[in-house]
Order: sequence, then C-alpha cells, then structure tokens
Amino acid sequence: MPAAWSQRTGNAGDPFVHGEEVFAQHCAECHGDLGQGVSGVVSIAGPNLQAEHDLGHVLTAIEVGPSHMPSFARTLSVQDMRDAAGFVTHKIAVIPMEDGNLSQGGELFRMYCSACHRTAVRGGALVFDGVNAPDLTTKSRALIAGAIRWGPGPMPKFPPAVLSDQQVASIADYVKYVQHPPSPGGSPMNWYGPVAEGFVAWVVVVSMIVVAMWIERGGKG
Ligand code: HEC
Ligand code: HEC
Repeated sequence: MPAAWSQRTGNAGDPFVHGEEVFAQHCAECHGDLGQGVSGVVSIAGPNLQAEHDLGHVLTAIEVGPSHMPSFARTLSVQDMRDAAGFVTHKIAVIPMEDGNLSQGGELFRMYCSACHRTAVRGGALVFDGVNAPDLTTKSRALIAGAIRWGPGPMPKFPPAVLSDQQVASIADYVKYVQHPPSPGGSPMNWYGPVAEGFVAWVVVVSMIVVAMWIERGGKG
C-alpha cells in the first residue's frame, strides 16, 4: 500500500519506503502525514517534525515517548524504529535550519514572539484565547522551528513569506542560546528570568537616585 507521503510528493520507490510505511502506520495520526503537526485533542496532538535533523534525538523520542507520546520500544522492532527515524530526518525534515544568526534571531523574537511568549527564557504566563503561551525553556530547536511553521492551537502560523527558513533558524538559535548562555564568572541570570532582571533594574534605579542625591549635595560624602 503506497503511503500518503509518496503519493503526495511523487517519491515512491525511494530507499526510505519502509520507514515511510512505519511512519504512516504509527506516527502520522499524531504528527500529520507530512510531519506537519496536528492540532487536536491532547491525546493525539503531536508537534511538527519538519526541522528534526538529529537522528539520535528522533530515535530517543520513539523509544522513550516524551510527554503523551507513547513509547514504541515494545511495539516496533529496532529496525522499524531506525527506519522511521531515518525517514523523519531525511524526508520529513524539510526546514533546513542553516545559517542562523543570534542577533537577528533576538530582533525577530522580540518582533514576532515576545508579545505572547514574553521573554524567550521564562515564557508567557500570558493568557491568549484561554490558552497560555508556554514556557519555551524545554523546547528543542526542532520544536521551536516546527511551531513557527505549524502554529499550534491559537498560535499563528508564520509561512516562508513572513519568515524565511534562515530567519526561522535564527529564532531557534536565539531561543536555545538565551536558555543556556555562556555565563562568564557569574550566576546565570536566566535561572531567575524576568524577576531577577526586574530586581537588577530596581537596584540600578535606586543607585542612580543615591548618586543624584550625592551630586546635589555637591559631591561631598
Ligand atoms: C499519540 C500521539 C503520538 C504518536 C503516535 C507519535 N507521537 Fe511523536 N510526539 C507526540 C507528542 C505529543 C510529542 C511532544 C512531546 C513534548 O512536548 O515533549 C511528540 C514528540 C515527538 C518528537 C520529539 C520532538 C522534539 O524535538 O522534542 C519526535 C522526534 C517524534 N515525536 C517522532 C515520532 C515518531 C517518529 C512517531 C512514530 C514512530 C511518533 N512520534 C508517534 C505524539 C505522538
Ligand atoms: C498570538 C500569540 C503567539 C505568538 C505571536 C507566538 N506564539 Fe508560540 N504559542 C502560542 C500558544 C497559545 C501556544 C500553545 C499552543 C497549544 O498549546 O496548542 C504556543 C506554542 C508554542 C511552542 C510550543 C510548541 C510545542 O510543540 O510544544 C513554541 C516552541 C512556540 N510557540 C514558539 C513561538 C515562536 C518562536 C514565536 C515567534 C515566531 C511564537 N511562538 C509566536 C502563542 C503565540
């Protein structure tokens, strides 16, 4: 039985045919037949997989079953799992994720994402259409890119006409970077997110007032 992906892309007879069959039978109901993601009731809503280039990451997901995805360790053979993972990384993963640029990613994040997700570090406790825009701290680079194209639930889709593949890679790089920035000689600020940043801003304001008072008194102690 030719599966949906080869029918829709005209790629029958390709070396990934077996992986494609496994995907069509076991994965498509939750992730979509092109891995485009499904927005539905929680028990079947699976994310977009079109930026999943890391074979090891995909295999782990199939074996472990993150969140409400089932583990396939007992239902699929090792060969089936490998073939399905290879199909995902070679055929489903069409978002190239190349040439990301951190400062561009930061600008784009502030422009397109922060209204709902606030900072990339501690996401939105902001209610939007009754659904919280989630914290992005645990999301993989692939999930971030996939969500941008897919638009889960009330989140808008950002098609290539709005954000190019390269810009999508920049945003994903930026979100991952601010989650784990190198923190030379200091406690990593990101653990505390907006609260700590707010506290620092408050300390800065107070010290400016103190300095201003000192200047007013003629700078004499
Ligand atoms: C019952 C629905 C369901 C089925 C069936 C399912 N998945 Fe998932 N999958 C999910 C959900 C939900 C998540 C998101 C988990 C999370 O938020 O961490 C997920 C996550 C993933 C991820 C990790 C995404 C990331 O970057 O962290 C990969 C890869 C994946 N699935 C591949 C597959 C493959 C391949 C199959 C078939 C063998 C499959 N899934 C079958 C629901 C499903
Ligand atoms: C209008 C509000 C809104 C905007 C703008 C928005 N999001 Fe979202 N986002 C949401 C909501 C709401 C959800 C939760 C959807 C759900 O649970 O079904 C979400 C979910 C996500 C997820 C989680 C997907 C998953 O598989 O768990 C990621 C990652 C994400 N958004 C990234 C982004 C990025 C990056 C941008 C900017 C390009 C962005 N969002 C712009 C509202 C928004």
